[in-house]
Amino acid sequence: MSITLPGPTLGVVGGGQLGRMLAEAASPLGVDVVVLDPTPACPASGVARDQIVAGFDDPDGIHALAERVDALTFEIELADPEVLAAASEEHDVPVHPDPGTLETIQDKLVQTEALADAGIPVPEFAAVATAEGLERVVEEFDGVMLKARRGGYDGRGNVPVHEPSEAADALAEVGGDAMAERFVEFEREIAVMGLKGADGATRTYPVTETIHREEILRESVAPARASDEAIARAEAVAEDVLEFLDGRGVYGIELFETREGDVLVNEIAPRPHNSGHWTIEGTRTSQFENHVRAVLGWPLGPTDLVAPAVTANVLGDTEESRPATLRGIEGVLDAPEADLHWYGKNDARPLRKMGHLTLTDGTVDPEATARAALLSRARELRDGLTFRET
Ligand SMILES: Nc1ncnc2c1ncn2[C@@H]1O[C@H](COP(=O)(O)OP(=O)(O)O)[C@@H](O)[C@H]1O
Ligand SMILES: [Mg+2]
Repeated sequence: MSITLPGPTLGVVGGGQLGRMLAEAASPLGVDVVVLDPTPACPASGVARDQIVAGFDDPDGIHALAERVDALTFEIELADPEVLAAASEEHDVPVHPDPGTLETIQDKLVQTEALADAGIPVPEFAAVATAEGLERVVEEFDGVMLKARRGGYDGRGNVPVHEPSEAADALAEVGGDAMAERFVEFEREIAVMGLKGADGATRTYPVTETIHREEILRESVAPARASDEAIARAEAVAEDVLEFLDGRGVYGIELFETREGDVLVNEIAPRPHNSGHWTIEGTRTSQFENHVRAVLGWPLGPTDLVAPAVTANVLGDTEESRPATLRGIEGVLDAPEADLHWYGKNDARPLRKMGHLTLTDGTVDPEATARAALLSRARELRDGLTFRET
């Protein structure tokens, strides 16, 4: 069957910044996007054709979405896999990635167990439900990252526990049913955006270095400043992960590069991911365009590097919520190497992702020093932005 324009309509559960950037990428392809999100005027709504205001697990809303579109996907793990599968079947529209994959990924313990069963390297982990159980694991692993099984993001739901005496409080903080993972003293964090297209085709983007503070992604550097061996290992692990996943689309594969040079999978996102935002400027086909193409079963676009790229996240003020009025953007607009992305959120809540900057190096200079300079410049420009009244 040949592809014709105007193209199909894509339904996206979730209308945050990922939905917004999906809609931005879909537009030149002639693909309309309809998002479903409980927040009226969500970030994607200004770019998408329409928004259905409904919860991510609301059957009526998701069925109404399925009725209007030619294919379904999601940009948030809170989408309900059972409802998605039922709506897909009833309205005869494909949904990608597979709701079964979403269900596995939604629960960090189930996800990690499934990866380990598939022979994919993960940090040592254990299920914990009681303070005594956690105390034992903290001793055994000599420190853990305690993770709520469901609903965590941007570090919310994660608590580092280094002493058995901290166990009870930590467990109460994550809400009881949890996974404890050996605390990894990593050399660096890296990520691979992987793609699965029609007929089992897979592709990966160049390995990205991700820099977190307080468990939140602050900056990314692509290509990663890692050894050739670590890059090769990350690519091989990513291929194994793609093999293990079901359904078309882009996947964010978060990895730890250990001091011993091993690569371990931290977690997988069945959707475009913050560590792939640089692909908008740094590659010919962004993760968002390729997600649209993959979900629709269209040919995938090239994933190779066009320019080294550094991304710096613009987060809400650390201390308090403020109106989302960002000041100081002249500096970014004046910088020829910088591109600005604003997500259109109404409140700059503490550490909320409000936008990002991407700086590209047009010389395709592979030297790590060039990427270090780009990273400093990105931080300098980002730190010149503020939500405070000056
Ligand atoms: N086992 C671990 N050891 C050390 N640091 C970790 C571990 N797990 C997570 N982290 C840190 O916390 C960050 C967020 O954890 P992650 O499980 O990816 O949660 P989220 O869903 O919030 O992204 C990671 O990117 C990493 O910096
Ligand atoms: Mg993560």
